[in-house]
Amino acid sequence: MVKIAPSILSADFCNLERDIRRVSAADWLHVDVMDGMFVPNITIGVPVVQSIRKHTDMFLDVHLMIDKPVRYIDQFCKAGADLLSVHLEADHSARIADALRAMEANGVKRAVALRPITSARAILPYLEQLDMVLVMTVEPGFGGQKFMEEQLDTIREVRALIDRYNPACELEVDGGVAPGTAEKVIEAGATVLVAGSAVYGAADPAKAIKALRQDGVL
Ligand code: DX5
Ligand code: ZN
Repeated sequence: MVKIAPSILSADFCNLERDIRRVSAADWLHVDVMDGMFVPNITIGVPVVQSIRKHTDMFLDVHLMIDKPVRYIDQFCKAGADLLSVHLEADHSARIADALRAMEANGVKRAVALRPITSARAILPYLEQLDMVLVMTVEPGFGGQKFMEEQLDTIREVRALIDRYNPACELEVDGGVAPGTAEKVIEAGATVLVAGSAVYGAADPAKAIKALRQDGVL
């Protein structure tokens, strides 16, 4: 069964505790951190993750869309993240490796994320140490964008590499995932689906989570 990770980017930040409770039927909580440099948008940072941790036991899946993420790994780990994703495009490979080592030292799960432009093979130097690979199906930066169908090929390629080199590794897909696209990404090999607008835009988020899960059960 796939895991569903609602993205709080589509929540009401003035009512974050309420909106986290509204998605408690989900498996993970996806937290989008943006710095206005790696992506044009600015969202939330370490203190917010720290506050979220105090109010939920949900697994915190923290997606770092920030430049040179190695600078902040310790802080996000201490704030209570359960898993951190760093973008391969955000620093030189040696510094990405440093960031992954820092996660391991903190006992936090390790993931790398790929912008749509980045090829699946870019994960190879890291794959054996990873707990997850995140494939973007929109340009990172904003919720509510249209799903990029052409990314299904990248998802399939990442799935083949994971099956070959690290079968336990999760494959998360992020961007434009909704009923309809969910089925396609599951078929392509995703095991974790991020959904912002599809969950928070629904009248009943719990129902939306269930519908996304069932897209894979055919
Ligand atoms: C975009 C973020 C996503 C975003 C997804 O840069 O990484 O997590 O919240 O939003 P939807 O599901 O609305 O595309
Ligand atoms: Zn995200």
